[in-house]
Amino acid sequence: MKKDILSLLDLEVADFTHLFQRALQLKKRFNQGISDRPLIGKSLGLIFDKKSTRTRVAFETAMIQLGGTPIYMSTQDTQISRNEPAEDTARVLSRYIDALAMRTFDHALVEKFAKASTIPVINALTDSFHPCQILSDLMTVVEVKGGYRNRKIVWVGDGNNVANSWVNAAAVLDLELVVATPDGYGIASCVKEASLARGGKSILFTNDPVEAVKDADVVYTDVWASMGQEQEQIKRESAFEGFQVNRDLLSKAKPDVMVMHCLPAHRGEEISEDVLEAPGAVFWDQAENKRHMHKAILETLILKTNG
Ligand code: CP
Ligand code: NVA
Repeated sequence: MKKDILSLLDLEVADFTHLFQRALQLKKRFNQGISDRPLIGKSLGLIFDKKSTRTRVAFETAMIQLGGTPIYMSTQDTQISRNEPAEDTARVLSRYIDALAMRTFDHALVEKFAKASTIPVINALTDSFHPCQILSDLMTVVEVKGGYRNRKIVWVGDGNNVANSWVNAAAVLDLELVVATPDGYGIASCVKEASLARGGKSILFTNDPVEAVKDADVVYTDVWASMGQEQEQIKRESAFEGFQVNRDLLSKAKPDVMVMHCLPAHRGEEISEDVLEAPGAVFWDQAENKRHMHKAILETLILKTNG
């Protein structure tokens, strides 16, 4: 039976636990110079319809280091751009490759691919979710904070794809999560409802970033205008006033607060330059962990499907 990761609601607590343990183990072994190559002879297709630096390179290097081969396809170079139906593309690719990572706008498209494929489909970001990002970010929380139990995690900013995946994760893992968004830019009600149906009694939604970050262990932010929303930049800059993660806001959090950002960051907008450049900042470890987590995801999904 193949398994997809389209959103974090596709995972159970045991899946999260396995992925954290395996990603941390693979990281340790890689740093000791041990080469793990369980995916020799396997290939990963990547269909990307939006820009990417970290996710693309992390998936490609993860696949190469595990002994497999990544095949990158920008949508423009495939017959999808000439209206070949998603279902046909998915069925054909299933005959060639062992897993598919997709980055696109409409979440319904990855769902269509997953339904028509016989191989695992992995969401590498849609307008709605960015599940693999939060898997590697939680791995970083485990590494730095020793775990995610009894840690107050606060989202400050737009109720976007990354925030939605935090809400999904908090529902499944019962995280203490506070989501502070400006009025009109909150988490979509369908995401809230689907998440809360899975659990999540410790998730709080607010419009007050100052109150939200009080005693936070982790403060997370992301750009105010995501890919595809560039034309709303100016309007959003005024709507998000007071939501910048800067020293002043962070003074309300715990003294050892860990600030996180999925990157790319807009310095001086959602995060101040000094916070981004602070000594000991984890942003670069966060980015590195994407590769280790992607390895754990690929190994788990590909070997599970192919026996
Ligand atoms: N964090 C992240 O997904 O970065 P990229 O857009 O560079 O892949
Ligand atoms: N919310 C951002 C995340 C980028 C990794 C976007 O979708 O552009």
